[in-house]
Amino acid sequence: MVRNALKIVTIGGGSSYTPELIEGYIKRKDELPIKEIWLVDIEDGKEKLEIVGDMAKRMVKAAGLDWEVHLTLDRREALKDADFVSTQFRVGLLDARIKDERVPLSHGVLGQETNGAGGMFKAFRTIPVILDIINDMKELCPDAWLVNFTNPAGMVTEAAIKHGGWKKTAGLCNVPIGHKKQAAEKLGIDEDKLFFKFAGINHFHWHRVWDDEGNERTAELIDLIYGPKTEQESHLKNIFDASFHYEQIKDLGLLPCGYHRYYYIEDEMLAHSVEEFEKGETRAQVVKETEARLFELYKDPKLDYKPKELEQRGGTHYSDAACELIASIYNDKRTEMVVSTQNNGTITDLPYDCVVEVSGPVTAHGHEPYNWGNFPPAARGIIQLMKGMEETTIRAAITGDYGAALHAFTINPLVPGGKMAKTLLDELLIAHKEYLPQFSEAITRIEETQPETVAYVEKLMASN
Ligand code: G6P
Repeated sequence: MVRNALKIVTIGGGSSYTPELIEGYIKRKDELPIKEIWLVDIEDGKEKLEIVGDMAKRMVKAAGLDWEVHLTLDRREALKDADFVSTQFRVGLLDARIKDERVPLSHGVLGQETNGAGGMFKAFRTIPVILDIINDMKELCPDAWLVNFTNPAGMVTEAAIKHGGWKKTAGLCNVPIGHKKQAAEKLGIDEDKLFFKFAGINHFHWHRVWDDEGNERTAELIDLIYGPKTEQESHLKNIFDASFHYEQIKDLGLLPCGYHRYYYIEDEMLAHSVEEFEKGETRAQVVKETEARLFELYKDPKLDYKPKELEQRGGTHYSDAACELIASIYNDKRTEMVVSTQNNGTITDLPYDCVVEVSGPVTAHGHEPYNWGNFPPAARGIIQLMKGMEETTIRAAITGDYGAALHAFTINPLVPGGKMAKTLLDELLIAHKEYLPQFSEAITRIEETQPETVAYVEKLMASN
């Protein structure tokens, strides 16, 4: 890339994470010749955009930089001639996430923004929007890179690459960053002296670790992190610290990610989530309050740096990863990163054209994943199931096909039973109807023939 006056656009610029992004760019000011930063949001996010946008301007000024920071509700104006576009938007704002969590939990089923029923609905709401953004990009900035960290990051990235045809897409997540730091700390070795190989899909990957003498340290880390004498920590603010079963992890011989708790010890995670639900403290409800406090801080005209309180959010390090990825593409730095990217045979157990989350250097041409090969049988079956579920969810998100949506719900390991799958699907379609035009036919049918479904959702939402 030879441009030396970069235009970087962030869609969902009114997010409370934006100061982390700006901090990440400032940290890399010598590597990135930024001219313009465009923060884009929608009418409903206008107030937040103005508050956090003004703070972004103060941060840039305090760093002595002459970057232009533009705030706009006009996505097309922002995208014109962009070099990098990052996405961090949430369709339906946090209120939609509250529904993703509360509807399933009201039936004693896990509700989570990227896993289970909630995650599938977030995909239904988000995928049509990312495809719309790509349509604009094809016209307005055909050479730009798309850096996605909108959740569910794996499915959204797969939709962008496979269905939007935008090959220059990289999906990011902060979970691997936390695991790298944890490994370095447990082994007492600098992170940059360790070599990591992650493989799987977003929020469902495993990893192996080697030291700089080429010795594999995975088994030792399993003992140190999950051994009988260890108090286990999830190291993610949004994930309850329930303990994995050591013997099972040892048998697999791979380090799990924090989100495997929802699958390997689902009963414990569910019990904890139900408790939160009963107290009116699901994660989304807590985050809504944290966010309100953050925006009060951001309003302070003297605040010109990222406040510590942002660390209360689970996505810390996300934006920093985005900035590093951009710097690595721009400078061909070959920074080792874990990225959601097209499989192309990296994981032989999964389809060639699907998106996987894997390790590798980021070059001027994008991410170049290291070969992983195949998984042991105990991981192979479940990851193939999860990928099939993701592909079916994406298909339903694009077509609005009720049968495909029901199929995705039925095969998702966190949704117990076909009857429950249908109940949750119907209720969530009603709860989110304003954001799901592709499902309008199914929604009308439910409204006309299942008044009890509509009444249940209304009552639940009123008790929020
Ligand atoms: C983790 C995940 C992110 C997710 C975040 C939620 O870090 O990797 O995908 O967005 O947690 O954090 P929150 O503070 O919104 O619950």
